[in-house]
Amino acid sequence: MHVDDDLPGDQLPLVAVPLPGSLGARLIDDLSRVECPGLTARRRRREELSGASHDPIVWARARGANVVDVEGNRFVDFTAGFGAALLGHSHPSVVAAVQRQSTRLLHALGDVYPSEPKIALERRLAELAPWPARVILGLSGADAVEAALKTAALATKKPGVVAFVGGYHGLSYGAVGVSGYKTAFRAPFAAQLNAKVVFAPFPSVLAPSPDEAEQAVEASLAAVDAALATGEIGAVVVEPILGRGGVEPAPAGFLAALAERARLAGAVLIADEVYTGLGRTGRLFRSIAQRCVPDILVLGKALGGGLPVSACLIREELAQAWGAPDREALHTSTFLGNPLGCAAALASLDVLTRPETADQIRETGQRLESTLTEALRDHRLGVPRTTFARLLVGLTLEGGSGRALAVMRSMLERGYIVLTGGVAGNVLTLTPPMCLTEAQIDGFTHALVASLHATRVP
Ligand SMILES: Cc1ncc(COP(=O)(O)O)c(C=O)c1O
Repeated sequence: MHVDDDLPGDQLPLVAVPLPGSLGARLIDDLSRVECPGLTARRRRREELSGASHDPIVWARARGANVVDVEGNRFVDFTAGFGAALLGHSHPSVVAAVQRQSTRLLHALGDVYPSEPKIALERRLAELAPWPARVILGLSGADAVEAALKTAALATKKPGVVAFVGGYHGLSYGAVGVSGYKTAFRAPFAAQLNAKVVFAPFPSVLAPSPDEAEQAVEASLAAVDAALATGEIGAVVVEPILGRGGVEPAPAGFLAALAERARLAGAVLIADEVYTGLGRTGRLFRSIAQRCVPDILVLGKALGGGLPVSACLIREELAQAWGAPDREALHTSTFLGNPLGCAAALASLDVLTRPETADQIRETGQRLESTLTEALRDHRLGVPRTTFARLLVGLTLEGGSGRALAVMRSMLERGYIVLTGGVAGNVLTLTPPMCLTEAQIDGFTHALVASLHATRVP
């Protein structure tokens, strides 16, 4: 019997052992003694804010939309593991590719003596780009953002970057320096970060009135223009939809306006599509679907189908800047282009680029949107705002971050894994896998309504 025959991935939750269970509790206790205390501190803060336990569950297995913890409880994962399992956990094509590759070559010599899967993946990614492209691979989204920022600095010889309040690009030094998501992430390291980063406001599409929406775009572009006018800005970095920042889509025309402004000012536009890219929002690249052609595209999360691999796609002419300096390979690392990750990414891309996949994402996204819209219409539930971009969904809750965390916990106890996001922490963020079934969407919706009732603000 295949080990996962009892976990096809399309089942409803089954939480038989109350969370976290004795084995789970023991493991978490072990973890809290050895892991960086930052994570334990966050748990305590969450408990204080929400008045609910935030002891984690410990994952043991996952397939499709289902996750099973060490107690044998079964959940439905509406996060797809931070968005990485867009195809579903342990997609059979990805698993088969990893199994095949693991018997041949686990590790090669990166930029010196590469492996075949690395070469094939770079070729495949270059074909997907909207222009003749060069590729720099990475292991995380932040890695690919670093490659993008370095490319901009080399190509323009300008150190400054325009980024956006609420934008999230990862936590390595270059990436956190341009992440306007929360100042708390930058503050302790501020002295070590790029001092020439300017944060512009990100215009909300859901401003109270069309006039205010227009004013928000103007204010944002005015801030971008003022920064570009200094002549010091080499890059504008933007997410087509703020992901961690609360599922906030760029208004129509905004991304194209940024590309045009960057071009006129001799800067490059970096579209960070780590969350939005590769189909999650219905198209392979959200920026291009919004009629914006960026200079650099950053991909991660879904690319590896669960393995750590990311990519920075660069317009050919910009990438030439890497050819000059010192004739050294200025940007590489031991595991960059790791054969297992590359084999997984090739298998993922095969599925992600099929027309049937786009259809499935559209259908699942539509079903989720119509079911949730109908259920959340009742204003007593305290969900004043919803944002749907296929499989990237934000539900803004009344009651602030404390209530959002209480809903997150209540949903977990009912067998549904969700995360909170947004600058104020009050957005329930759903990034499910594309293989959600109708029954899973209905079950989720019932559980959500019950959790919202249970946590109602008086
Ligand atoms: C838009 C965006 N860029 C970059 C990153 C960083 O990716 P990673 O966590 O893999 O470093 C994230 C992570 O959530 C992201 O959402």
